[in-house]
Amino acid sequence: MKASRDVVSSRPDLFTGALNVSRIRDDFPILKRKVHGKPLIYLDNAATAQKPQQVVDALVRFYSEYNSNIHRGVHLLSSEATEAFEEARAKVKRFVNAREISEIIFVRGATEAINLVAQSYGRQHVRAGDEIVISAMEHHSNIVPWQILCEEKGARLRVVPINDRGEFLMEEYEKLLNSRTRLVSVAHVSNALGSILPVAEIIDAAHRRNVPVLIDGAQAAPHMRLDVQLLDCDFYALSGHKLFGPTGVGILYGKWDLLDEMPPYQGGGDMISSVTFERTIYNTLPFKFEAGTPHIAGGIGLGAAIDYLNGVGLENIAAYEQELLGYATDSLSAIPRVRIIGTAREKASLVSFTVDGVHPHDIGTVLDQEGIAIRTGHHCAQPVMDRFRIPATARASFAFYNTREEIGALLRGVHKVIELFN
Ligand code: ALA
Repeated sequence: MKASRDVVSSRPDLFTGALNVSRIRDDFPILKRKVHGKPLIYLDNAATAQKPQQVVDALVRFYSEYNSNIHRGVHLLSSEATEAFEEARAKVKRFVNAREISEIIFVRGATEAINLVAQSYGRQHVRAGDEIVISAMEHHSNIVPWQILCEEKGARLRVVPINDRGEFLMEEYEKLLNSRTRLVSVAHVSNALGSILPVAEIIDAAHRRNVPVLIDGAQAAPHMRLDVQLLDCDFYALSGHKLFGPTGVGILYGKWDLLDEMPPYQGGGDMISSVTFERTIYNTLPFKFEAGTPHIAGGIGLGAAIDYLNGVGLENIAAYEQELLGYATDSLSAIPRVRIIGTAREKASLVSFTVDGVHPHDIGTVLDQEGIAIRTGHHCAQPVMDRFRIPATARASFAFYNTREEIGALLRGVHKVIELFN
């Protein structure tokens, strides 16, 4: 991608560090649309990110030029589709720095990745009286699959508390780990608070007790460079649509030895090497976990999104988004009646906040009239809301195509909310 190398911008306000944001914005067709007659200001990236033209083109090319099923046909279209899908897998492997390509499983999203581990690894290893450790700031998708498993097995879910800033309490975590702990599963970045969890230390502490760790990276992958070998996590889950790729596709990374021993999650085509009514022999990794026709276009689109992100540069993205976060945090904190929920020292680029006396849905509705899209509600993290004794927050989440100018519009919108609900 050319954008990251361009050093001359016709709009200096949009040029920051190594990113030419103006040029980047041209790659995202949706950013040109209007909402209620105003230019769209999209600050709901933690819910789903927008797609660059390069991803849209990859999908259109697949469906218009070589749509076909994979791993099955001998015809040309099928081999082109298979090659493109497997090339996308290789791109994901490099993106997360997995050791083996067979450690990359295509799934529907981070939610399915976590359910796969719970239902396969979990059912195989968790017994009555065992414990699974999560944190108090998990998304429902990293709570409910473990509750289902615990209920089935008579196991217990242990929850690591957080402090008032929304930070993971390492000491409390260490106290919870014991000989009954079978798995630790925590977010890399909290979707409701933005906190970055100290995953390297979390993994290290678990490994000292031979406990494997799953990291839910849905909110981290769009914002920072990942290295699953460096982290030494056992499983890592991510969602394509938050990574500027299509919806309905995601990745489970797992260490080969663990995946190899795990039973299949779903049965069907492509996950077998032979079937008789008496006995089925399962396919090798990664196909053992990919029953049925996968989201072929989605996988290819995710590969295109990864190419795009590599072009922009994860380090450039992280540095620029931290500037946006700092600006938004400082300016929102300075507004009377605004309370920021989640003030961890290490945060990804999102700000959850409340305005005293105004329901977050009203904040969202007023901002929508200004063309500003944010998310309001409990963000599928009700226990986090309970922890802060609030029903909901307004959440502005930033991507590398957002600008200080857009944050300025958000601030004006919040002032308008305060005037309206005086
Ligand atoms: N998990 C997504 C969010 O945080 C949908 O908004």
